[in-house]
Amino acid sequence: MNILILGSGGREHALAWKIAASPLTTKLYCAPGNAGIAQEAECVALDLADHAAVIAFCKASKIDFVVVGPEGPLCAGIVDDLEAAGIKAFGPSKWAARLEGSKGFTKDLCKANRIPTAAYERFKGADAARQYVRKQGAPIVVKADGLAAGKGVVVAGTVAEAEAAIDMMFDGGLGQPAWEIVIEDCMVGEEASFFALCDGDTAIPLASAQDHKRVGDGDTGPNTGGMGAYTPAPIMTPDMNKRVMDEIIFPTVNALKKAGAPFKGVLFAGLMITKDGPQLIEYNVRFGDPETQVIMLRLMSDLLPALIASRDGQLKSFDLRLYPDAALTVVMAAKGYPGSYNKGTVIEGLEDAAQVERVEIFHAGTRRDGDHIVANGGRVLNVCARGNSVAQAQQRAYAAVDKIKWPDGFCRRDIGWQAIARERK
Ligand code: AMP
Ligand code: GLY
Repeated sequence: MNILILGSGGREHALAWKIAASPLTTKLYCAPGNAGIAQEAECVALDLADHAAVIAFCKASKIDFVVVGPEGPLCAGIVDDLEAAGIKAFGPSKWAARLEGSKGFTKDLCKANRIPTAAYERFKGADAARQYVRKQGAPIVVKADGLAAGKGVVVAGTVAEAEAAIDMMFDGGLGQPAWEIVIEDCMVGEEASFFALCDGDTAIPLASAQDHKRVGDGDTGPNTGGMGAYTPAPIMTPDMNKRVMDEIIFPTVNALKKAGAPFKGVLFAGLMITKDGPQLIEYNVRFGDPETQVIMLRLMSDLLPALIASRDGQLKSFDLRLYPDAALTVVMAAKGYPGSYNKGTVIEGLEDAAQVERVEIFHAGTRRDGDHIVANGGRVLNVCARGNSVAQAQQRAYAAVDKIKWPDGFCRRDIGWQAIARERK
């Protein structure tokens, strides 16, 4: 089969690495891709917002199946447009992608179907929102509706902070004035990510993971797109995984099916594991980045037939096998990230680093410049490793990091610390 992956990050490199290894793959393309993905696939310069151009490429190159990475094109309806043009694609319809695109939609769906999540209210104006937080008290969480690349959430420790967040969001502090905000109770517990493949009718678990969002060691400093991750999340015991499927994933899949918008694709649940059990923080309708990089390392089964079964509504009898190992990734970012940073700085030592046992390096933001690989974004590399424990995976990943010569880059030195502390107990 001829396969096209859409996207250009570390997630898409990991997907390309796995799909390139499938016996079903004849020719693999990625648009737009990056310098690492170019080792697995032919990269094509396509504007993902231009659905007609993507469709024209698929027809010209006889693409049999498209795998969509990022949420932007999914929420813009690229799967609907590809399918309408007769091209099979992995991912949810525009309607089902509202699970990620609209926090209000997801909260209402949870309430109507008794899916455990924080109590909340939706607001279209600042006055009523301010009154609500004064009544509820702090801590409280203020969220702008719509895609905000992770920046639309303020966990407010005081009422004054919550009121400032409300004003900031309605006044356009996130770029555009929010048209609606959701205010919800603050949940207490440990966070984990959970991934399930869905085919519109049923779902199968893929894996759990945890990521480190803050830029600095000890989980300090500003939020980022993710500075590292590991899988599985130790808090996700077999019993907890089953509860998440029964209490959160299956009811969601059933609710969307009943509403006439069956969910196909990967459902990524951000969870808070509270003393009363798992609660949904939010949904994403795509693979996580950098979680996918580590999950692909643990996946023993061929990914491609599972993605096709998800698209075809055939997941029911599917069985995905994972290695029992742990996997961990350290993100290397350009100095200055998540603030301003330079592009074009030279990275060396990648081949050496990739020789470390059970290490795989996925590129997040790189470009080839003559004989050199140069940085081309904020998050630039994912140095990933498998091990029989998170501690061993961490030790291998940092051994590889230490072989990479990139004076303009940095990484955290403590990825996996909670999981490793738990392993020592
Ligand atoms: P979200 O973009 O909805 O995943 O939120 C970003 C982060 O804010 C989450 O990963 C949590 O750390 C935190 N958060 C969001 N909602 C809540 C909540 N209701 N209670 C506690 N923390 C939350
Ligand atoms: N790692 C979080 C995300 O992909 O949104």
